Amino acid sequence: MSANIQAVRGMNDILPDEAAWWRHFEATVEAWLERYGYRNIRMPLVEHTQLFRRAIGEVTDIVEKEMYSWRDELNGEDLTLRPEGTASCVRAAIEHNLLYDGPKRLWYAGAMYRHERPQKGRYRQFHQYGVEALGLEGPDIDAEHIVMCAALWRDLGLGGIRLELNTIGSAEERARYRADLVRHLEANVDRLDADARRRMHTNPLRVLDSKNPMVQDVVAGAPALTGYLGQESKAHFEGLRRLLAAAGVQYTINPRLVRGLDYYNRTVFEWISDALGAQGTVCGGGRYDGLFAQIGGKTAPATGFAMGNERLIALLRDGERAPATRPPDAYLLSHGDGTHEYAFTLAEVLRGAGYAIVQHAGGGSFKSQMKKADASGAWTALIVGADEVRDGDVSVKFMRKAEPQYRIARAHVVAAFADALQKART
Ligand code: HAM
Repeated sequence: MSANIQAVRGMNDILPDEAAWWRHFEATVEAWLERYGYRNIRMPLVEHTQLFRRAIGEVTDIVEKEMYSWRDELNGEDLTLRPEGTASCVRAAIEHNLLYDGPKRLWYAGAMYRHERPQKGRYRQFHQYGVEALGLEGPDIDAEHIVMCAALWRDLGLGGIRLELNTIGSAEERARYRADLVRHLEANVDRLDADARRRMHTNPLRVLDSKNPMVQDVVAGAPALTGYLGQESKAHFEGLRRLLAAAGVQYTINPRLVRGLDYYNRTVFEWISDALGAQGTVCGGGRYDGLFAQIGGKTAPATGFAMGNERLIALLRDGERAPATRPPDAYLLSHGDGTHEYAFTLAEVLRGAGYAIVQHAGGGSFKSQMKKADASGAWTALIVGADEVRDGDVSVKFMRKAEPQYRIARAHVVAAFADALQKART
């Protein structure tokens, strides 16, 4: 016998009980996005590999080792399953000239793919909500995004998510800083691990967020990027901080926060929960004013963030408030010759009137059907036997109340069922 085929490692099924939490989460997030005036955009899951190489950066974990890429031999194209949404969103904005009549506030949702080592909170297929504001350059929009996130955590009833904030200046400011940082790293090369040594010349800023204590020690003695910021970058950051203070948003400045994607400039931030173990970052983002030009568009300022659904839903579940799901209004069962057709069409009449009706399938005794009705959580059972068919009726039984079963006429079933359901629920 051949072995069972299982899901691909790091790619999860979301079973119905779990999916109830997802739907509660999605409904809350989408109502929140609407309140802030963001519009939905949907991009393909597959893009040209070159898009991510240019946008995310050649020397990043994602591009170096985490992308699901392949050559489509039919067209001779190099393609990749999207590891994130920002690059696709900007590609779409350029391709369709979305900014022709002004800035755009957009959101997208869906699966992203990264070939990481799976562990709790880290998967190879995971889901994000992404928010991007394209064409806006002031710190007010950075502040809008951060304040928005704080509001969402409140809407979701999640406490204990803290904000880390940093500014990484402009590309020119970083280039000057980079030169001095590399000098410092070179002088301390004997205390760097293999990863840091490799990154030292290719992407030295990434050495700043190394988790290795010995490397962190070297980083602690390194010059700080803040010392290299020009007037405009400083003013932008100060503007953001003033708005956050006005909104009463608490944060810590983490000068080592540089993020894992290379398109950022100025503002970067992450929201972190300590309740999730090693994978505690539930949301991250920042400004990326260079990205439009980098992937071939006209220069346009932009800023955004994305949150990890799996991580936020894990936090929601810890809160133990199971989301309310709508139980069926009726479980419809039938027993006896010729009753099934009668029940089958009756179910459609009630559904047509808006009721949630689960019709028993698969036969079985009356008793076993009643057990299924009970297990379904329905408010009522609707019973069709030979007598009901003969008299043009249907019997109603309340499932959560001890009251005698009674009959209603099929000719007036919609009105009579409305009345029955109300009684069953009160
Ligand atoms: P990111 O920091 O790579 O940013 O991902 C955002 C969030 O997605 C993370 O904070 C985390 O919650 C979740 N996430 C990332 N990788 C995984 C994984 N393997 N398993 C589970 N969850 C994961 C971006 O993707 C940027 N596009 C955000 C952005 C939008 N910046 C500007 N606009």
